Amino acid sequence: MRVKLQISLLLLCVVQSISAANIIPQPTQYEKGDQKFVLTDKSMLLYDAKVRDVAMYLIDYIPFKHILCSDKPMQGDVVLDINRLLDKEGYRLTIDKHSIKVEGGGYGGVFNGVQTLLQLLPSEVYAHTAKFPMTVEHCRITDKPKFAYRGMMLDVTRTWIEAPRVKRYIDLLAYHKINKLHFHLSDDEGWRVELKSHPEFATIGGFRGGDSPVHPRYAKFDERWGGYYTQNELRDIVRYAAQRNIEVIPEIDMPGHSRGICAIKPEILCNFTPDTARTNGLDIRNVWCASKESNYRIIEDIVAELSKIFTSEYIHIGGDEVNMSQWRKCPDCQRLKRRHGLANDAQIEDYFIARTTEILKKYGKKPAVWNEAIDGGTLDKTTRVHGWKGIKHCKESAERGYPTIVMAGEYFYFDMKHSMGEEGHTWAGIVSPKKVHSFNFEKCGFTPAQLENIIGIEATFFSEIYIANHPEKDDYLDYMHYPRVSILSELMWSKEQSGWDEFASRLYASHYHRMRSMGVAFRLPRPVVKYANGELSASTIDGSELYYTDERTGRTSKYKRSLRCDAPQYICFESRFGKARSPKTGSAAYHKLLEPTVTITSSLPCQERSPLTNVEKYGNRIARTARPAKRGDWIEYRFAEPLMCREILARTGHIHLRRCHFMKGRVELSYDGVAFERVADLVDGGAVVKPQKSIVALRIVADSRSDAEPDVVIQPLQIRPL
Ligand code: ACM
Ligand code: ZN
Repeated sequence: MRVKLQISLLLLCVVQSISAANIIPQPTQYEKGDQKFVLTDKSMLLYDAKVRDVAMYLIDYIPFKHILCSDKPMQGDVVLDINRLLDKEGYRLTIDKHSIKVEGGGYGGVFNGVQTLLQLLPSEVYAHTAKFPMTVEHCRITDKPKFAYRGMMLDVTRTWIEAPRVKRYIDLLAYHKINKLHFHLSDDEGWRVELKSHPEFATIGGFRGGDSPVHPRYAKFDERWGGYYTQNELRDIVRYAAQRNIEVIPEIDMPGHSRGICAIKPEILCNFTPDTARTNGLDIRNVWCASKESNYRIIEDIVAELSKIFTSEYIHIGGDEVNMSQWRKCPDCQRLKRRHGLANDAQIEDYFIARTTEILKKYGKKPAVWNEAIDGGTLDKTTRVHGWKGIKHCKESAERGYPTIVMAGEYFYFDMKHSMGEEGHTWAGIVSPKKVHSFNFEKCGFTPAQLENIIGIEATFFSEIYIANHPEKDDYLDYMHYPRVSILSELMWSKEQSGWDEFASRLYASHYHRMRSMGVAFRLPRPVVKYANGELSASTIDGSELYYTDERTGRTSKYKRSLRCDAPQYICFESRFGKARSPKTGSAAYHKLLEPTVTITSSLPCQERSPLTNVEKYGNRIARTARPAKRGDWIEYRFAEPLMCREILARTGHIHLRRCHFMKGRVELSYDGVAFERVADLVDGGAVVKPQKSIVALRIVADSRSDAEPDVVIQPLQIRPL
């Protein structure tokens, strides 16, 4: 008994000493004491008036009953004070037998110190349920950020996110000492800012689908869906963020990515009649005409209002992925090019950005742009550049002297998949947590001269896929962000770069508990599943709990020990930690797909470069049609041999996105190769069917036109064996 008690005491000590040091992002200097300070309901919080808002923030997490503002805050149990000797965002946290003292070089420094303090307290503080007494180990932490710009970009256009949920998003960033929210407020899919000068931009352009002129490109096609922030809501978000040491930088993406407002105000577009035959009659142009003076007046209207709402020094004005063919077809843009001696189309963009920059200057703001905007070669060197396309582009921007933020897609696009088999894009690669963690300036080959111009790092979340993943809830948003944001925070903040194992030990031992208390549905690593000698076994590396589901019965049970099992193809595993989930996985048998010999035909002609024979080879291969679909168009998959299987996923459309697909349609099966029987309706271009007997062919038939994309994507069937 005694021995057992000693062992558990020993374990407790180990756990507690881990918990004291397990701060994310890791601080610059940490000295551990060997005593504990106890906070009780008698404890007094004293604060300097300059950090009143930090004190008000803190009492939401620690329910102090005694609070005092003092210009000499020396005698409190918890003291928040300014110390001008420290860096603006740096802090010193001293916990000794007298007090808990947070000194910061400025408001942000004190706020950052408070974040570290929260991490040292019981994780229940994040759920606002921690109670006195609370103990915290003596320590002295001296800390400051590596980068002044520590950002996260949120796209609220492809998927609409209401103001209270943006505030929750900000809270989570603040816990990680992130200090910039790049707020992507306009795009092809919507306009999210109330404007008094052009109310229709938001009241119409905030909604797409249904009867809205804004035609969606991703999911929720039939429903009028969306929303916008009123100016009061935005001011409130800006204030809320500022209290949390976060600056909100709005982005209005121009001159491209503007299909939404161009649908409402087509006079923004260039002066030529588009070819709408290939797009089901819709004008899908999305670029501002660079030559129209009326456009610069609209931009001034927008900037005048934004600059009153947002306190940031910069406004992001986009500049990415401009379809310059629209300027090439526009006689007015071509005249503008000649008149101003512009060497190429990229310099038309320079002209547009220079004009917009003038307007920004008039309202006391500076421009930030995406990296393509520097291609024309004449942009002012004070322009802040967000390097998104890759490391190469970040280096080029820095080399050319632009203040540059590294957002390279291959590390920092959190809309990319965590691993194969999960939801997400892949165009920038697989962005696993380990991949994010592996980012390193030296290993990426940045030169010292380039590093001089790197002002920070930012990750981003574009929300094309979120819209098809319960956008009314935070789960997918959380899953795609955490723990990748936790890893990001350390890259941006900490001077020393940890090894993965050391980082992961802090993450699993402490930060998981914090995130659970924050209510975050973060992503857990995929469990390892093995099947051998009739036994199915699974394990996790992070202390999360394992569950398994038998897909024949739908029953989910807690996994305790290996299972005797003769049908592993039906058993899938998932680990859980609070709301956090791992991807669902199973043994090799569970993931096995059949690839029977198939011949694919269609009523839709295909583009020469993307023929149907691509799809017959399975995998991620696709075909693209040469026109959009109309009612009655079909795709037929005919098997060489009658096929028995348990389930087929039949989908039209882009392999990762609900796009380029049949808007409405059905799946039909043929058992004799002649007659077809309707077995399912398409939802967002796809359906799962479970044939009860062997089939000879499967057809996907359009019951309406496809969306406004010029093509339909045809993809392989996913066939699961019996
Ligand atoms: C971007 O991802 N187009 C900036
Ligand atoms: Zn034009």
